[in-house]
Amino acid sequence: MLFDPEPKKKKRDFYNREAELHELLESIEKEKLVVIQGIRRLGKSSLLNVALSESKHPFVKIDLREIYFAHGSISKFYLYHALSQELSRLSRTHRLTSWLEKVRGIRIAGFEIQLDWREKGASLADVFRVTDRWASAHEERMIVAIDEAQYLRLAGRMKYDGLLAWAIDNLDNLTFILTGSQVGLLRDFLGLENPRSPLYGRYAKIINLRRLDREEAMDFLERGFKEAKTKPPDLEKVVDALDGLIGWLALYGHTCVSEGRADLEWFLKMAAKLAAEESKKILRWSDRYQVVLRAIASGALKWSEIYAGVSGKLGPIPKSDLTYLLDNLVRYGYLERREDGSFIIPDPVIRYMATKF
Ligand SMILES: Nc1ncnc2c1ncn2[C@@H]1O[C@H](COP(=O)(O)OP(=O)(O)O)[C@@H](O)[C@H]1O
Ligand SMILES: [Mg+2]
Repeated sequence: MLFDPEPKKKKRDFYNREAELHELLESIEKEKLVVIQGIRRLGKSSLLNVALSESKHPFVKIDLREIYFAHGSISKFYLYHALSQELSRLSRTHRLTSWLEKVRGIRIAGFEIQLDWREKGASLADVFRVTDRWASAHEERMIVAIDEAQYLRLAGRMKYDGLLAWAIDNLDNLTFILTGSQVGLLRDFLGLENPRSPLYGRYAKIINLRRLDREEAMDFLERGFKEAKTKPPDLEKVVDALDGLIGWLALYGHTCVSEGRADLEWFLKMAAKLAAEESKKILRWSDRYQVVLRAIASGALKWSEIYAGVSGKLGPIPKSDLTYLLDNLVRYGYLERREDGSFIIPDPVIRYMATKF
């Protein structure tokens, strides 16, 4: 179903994105590091899932947002647990266990694989090395997919950027696919352009997901309503409000169909609550973020206009403070900086939410 609110898994539910899917499938065959980036709800996880299912290669996939939201951190324990589950799943279809049982710190019982996460337990480098050898022996490619990879920078003492750099340099049969909603943070974590980063200078194939254009957004909604056999409301207004963000369009379609409620204002309020919940950790750090977003949502686009709006509310703050706040909002994906230096809030629901601060 096009309006299914979960990330899509199958190509038949996956709207359009043919070019991106093709690009990703091609990259899997020849690249070692692929990065899918773009703000939330553009369809990164869906693209990743569909590509994994279409590529037919063995893969392990770890969803870091899920771990982070369930446990509040990306500890080694939870990461190893997630990887153990994925390797166990894989061992049911691919004969990996006889290869993995040689690795220190791996326990195997039937199809169950358990990585010992403790200090002297399993090393991920060993796990990757053995999987690479297995892939080589079977003339396969193994995919290691990490959804919302920017959370890896919250992994405490563990330095996953170094591990990734080592794997990319040494293991020819693995393709790493990373996605990231907080594009600036993901870029900071990877540090491909930072001479002090282990990944400095490595090539990454970057896939930037774009939003649907107006025609596609209308077409997506029309098809979704048709599929659900429900009479569509005024779709022009929906696209005016939600833009080409496929995630909001799908959620709107879903609530229309499942609750019989087409009221856009009501939907925006509900969506804004969801967005507020998702962003509370960041926006609660400082009220100032809210003031900045509000100034931009009410029409201030240039630095000087934003400064006027913000100092009207907070009194004259140091200019460097505003620059710092804006930079952070850009890194977290709440703002985008245009070429002319002005700022916009790329997500229409966040824009709506910010007018209510
Ligand atoms: N190509 C697509 N076709 C149909 N629905 C999609 C597509 N891409 C995303 N969606 C829907 O939009 C929502 C957000 O997608 P998701 O893949 O989770 O985005 P992201 O990972 O970028 O936040 C989900 O409900 C998903 O089903
Ligand atoms: Mg996602």
